[in-house]
Amino acid sequence: MSRPSRADAVVTSEPETTTPAAPGPGAPVTAGEPLRYGRLELTGRAICAPICGASKAPYRMLARRFGASLAYTEMIKATPLARRDRKTFWLAERHPEETPSAIQICGANPVEMADATRIAIDELGFTTLDINMGCPVRKVVREGAGAAMLKDPSSVARVVDAVVGAAGDAPVTVKIRTGFDGSGISAVPVAKAAEGAGAAAIAIHGRHRSQHHSGDVDFDAIADVVASVRIPVIGNGSVNSPESAVRMIESTGCAAVMIGRGAFGTPWLFRDVQRAIQGLPAVPPPPMEEQLECALWHHERTMMLFGEEVGSRVFRKFAAWYFRNAPYGNQFRGAVYRATKADEVARLLREWFEHREKLMTRATALGESELAAFIGGATAEGAQERGGARLFVLNDDDGCAPRPARGTIVNSGS
Ligand SMILES: Cc1cc2nc3c(=O)[nH]c(=O)nc-3n(C[C@H](O)[C@H](O)[C@H](O)COP(=O)(O)O)c2cc1C
Repeated sequence: MSRPSRADAVVTSEPETTTPAAPGPGAPVTAGEPLRYGRLELTGRAICAPICGASKAPYRMLARRFGASLAYTEMIKATPLARRDRKTFWLAERHPEETPSAIQICGANPVEMADATRIAIDELGFTTLDINMGCPVRKVVREGAGAAMLKDPSSVARVVDAVVGAAGDAPVTVKIRTGFDGSGISAVPVAKAAEGAGAAAIAIHGRHRSQHHSGDVDFDAIADVVASVRIPVIGNGSVNSPESAVRMIESTGCAAVMIGRGAFGTPWLFRDVQRAIQGLPAVPPPPMEEQLECALWHHERTMMLFGEEVGSRVFRKFAAWYFRNAPYGNQFRGAVYRATKADEVARLLREWFEHREKLMTRATALGESELAAFIGGATAEGAQERGGARLFVLNDDDGCAPRPARGTIVNSGS
């Protein structure tokens, strides 16, 4: 199948209004306005973060379906992409329905970064490209890439300049942190260097590199960046509810929020956050049937993209998200990790969603000791291992029939 051309990559998604946004120091977010940077126009202000190992095409599509206005690939290393490494092309897989689409690349060598950019935009058909300037991993930092760039605004300028030059009219963004280790150069000179070299927007994770992915999010540091540049700033870090998204925007003046872990297993968070930003009333989570359908769709697309063997391994962590914070989540997670066949995992997903509902219903009607007895009984009498996968035996006949596929993952790699 031929690759979608750059021209096919429609850049706008239906705008809610046509009033241009006004990026700039402390520019307030106006609910409902599209977020514009470069030739990109995003209808929503909830963006799906790049997450290594997770941000594959099926997850990105799920995030978009539930309201993320943009969803990034995981970090793709520029060196192998520029050398047309097969595995790297595979990691950068993009579905033709992903429009607009966003890739993130990582590297410190301007020539390689420019080559990788041309491949990402012209050949793979991505609409916009982000430069990773926050990866804390030692191996990446040792090469002067990722978070190492936070120590050297002049190298930020060189890399952004090269990438912008190679990207044509595709907008280039950077994703930074508040600093390298909480001392020395702050995010402001880095942001200014990026803007000066032509970056169209900046995403900032409100933690420095030494914090990795935990600890307090520094709203003041994000606000300082917002105040120091005229391009839109996207705030990131522990946005895991509509309230925390509104807090991020109100505390920093950022134009949009980027959500990572908070949406794992609950991709409708993007929709909920977007509604909160627009001041719309909250809506209940999707019904269980729709949640199950999402999980099955995610599973099925992961199998289509990676094949059963690799796909089953890849999907394990996704499955664990769906079992988070729920009765018997650990047991189901264990069963999915032991499962080797796609249909075993699909069956576990169906079983769990249905069982969860029943258990929840019973749990609210039971006292604490009765609940303990019920769960004990359920595990002792109802639970049964079969082929390492089946965990619960449901006595009633309410199994969920497999749902038809909605489309196909098209291999757009080389
Ligand atoms: C497992 C994991 C992998 C990540 N991979 C990437 C990545 O490939 N590129 C990137 O820019 N950030 C990456 N991040 C950082 C996230 O994009 C995000 O900045 C961080 O998780 C904070 O947002 P959150 O609190 O909403 O998750 C990763 C984070 C985690 C936890």
